[in-house]
Amino acid sequence: MENEGNHNCSEEEEEEEEKKEEGKEEEEERLEKEHFWKIINAFRYYRIYAHERVTRSEKQFLSLPAAHRKLLPNFLPHVNKLRECIEHNYEILKAIINNCNHMFENKEYGVIDMETDGRLKPASTFDMDKLKSTIKQFVRDWSDDGKAERDACYRPIIEEIIKHFPEDECNPADMNVLVPGAGLGRLAWEIARLGYSCQGNEWSLYMLFCSHFVLNRCSGVNTMTLYPWIHQFSNNRRSADQIRPVHFPDVNSHSLPSHANFSMTAGDFQEIYTEPNAWDCVATCFFIDTAHNVVDYIETIWKILKLGGIWINLGPLLYHFENMANEKSIELSYEDIRHCILQYGFKIEVVTQEIETSAIFDTSC
Ligand SMILES: C[S@@+](CC[C@H](N)C(=O)[O-])C[C@H]1O[C@@H](n2cnc3c(N)ncnc32)[C@H](O)[C@@H]1O
Repeated sequence: MENEGNHNCSEEEEEEEEKKEEGKEEEEERLEKEHFWKIINAFRYYRIYAHERVTRSEKQFLSLPAAHRKLLPNFLPHVNKLRECIEHNYEILKAIINNCNHMFENKEYGVIDMETDGRLKPASTFDMDKLKSTIKQFVRDWSDDGKAERDACYRPIIEEIIKHFPEDECNPADMNVLVPGAGLGRLAWEIARLGYSCQGNEWSLYMLFCSHFVLNRCSGVNTMTLYPWIHQFSNNRRSADQIRPVHFPDVNSHSLPSHANFSMTAGDFQEIYTEPNAWDCVATCFFIDTAHNVVDYIETIWKILKLGGIWINLGPLLYHFENMANEKSIELSYEDIRHCILQYGFKIEVVTQEIETSAIFDTSC
């Protein structure tokens, strides 16, 4: 009897546990959807936000004494050009989020209403900053203007991959390369173009919407235009610099060889990549300083690499959470990171410290 009683009790407990688990999953799903719509809202709010900023400049200018305004006849025409650029950027942003509610397998988010502004809420400064830096990321990854930057950051990584997995010693298609924090996907795409099996991983919906657009919806070369610099009101040498267009993509993103194995995954690198001994190479570019705890990243990379696999890393240690009071942020020096890497069992083969990258790219993207 007693045993039966215990048995019933544990069944009840099990049911309770299951319900709790379901509740947790539902809550996670709800938060995920809420986040998705917050980002969609930010894309749609861009137009209002950017026009407000320009109107502020215009008002400041109009408050000047007439004699000062007369000295600056090009100012108001420039303001009008900025407005035209905003309208153009907004069209591209609308195209990016159009139908992106269907871009993830097994996920539906409802219908995106692009025309009515009824449900549009003011987006936070944080979200607008993210959107502006994502727009700039098109320059780095998919424009002729970003070539020098890509040559400085992506080429050394690609050269290391080729050096370790040369075509005459292995079949590149059998080599699995993972690029966590892939941004707009150019590095991962270039690695796949060389014949390696490459997967990019990214958790920012800003980046994922934009990479999906450039990789799946753009055809031809330089068929799209953005004005990435219009939000920069200081430090412009000429007014024309602020309204300089950038064309993209500089390559046909559909030009991967037919046998190429290229994919992108959405989500937190540490949650998704738990399978041990799965990757021949992990390539991180401007990524490891996005960690709350960089040791967690190192541990994950160590675990998911096959025996004899390689990790190639390039980028600064500008810890993303450093100045966020409520966020965990372990800021290690290169020396400490190096020590930690060696403790896990990595052998350090090459260290290059002199890579010049441009300051125009926001490393907090
Ligand atoms: C500084 S950006 C670099 C992007 C790209 N690798 C490049 O070099 O241009 C860092 C990227 O890592 C992404 N990221 C940060 N933490 C991540 C995580 N835990 N899982 C996946 N992606 C992450 C960010 O969303 C951002 O796109």
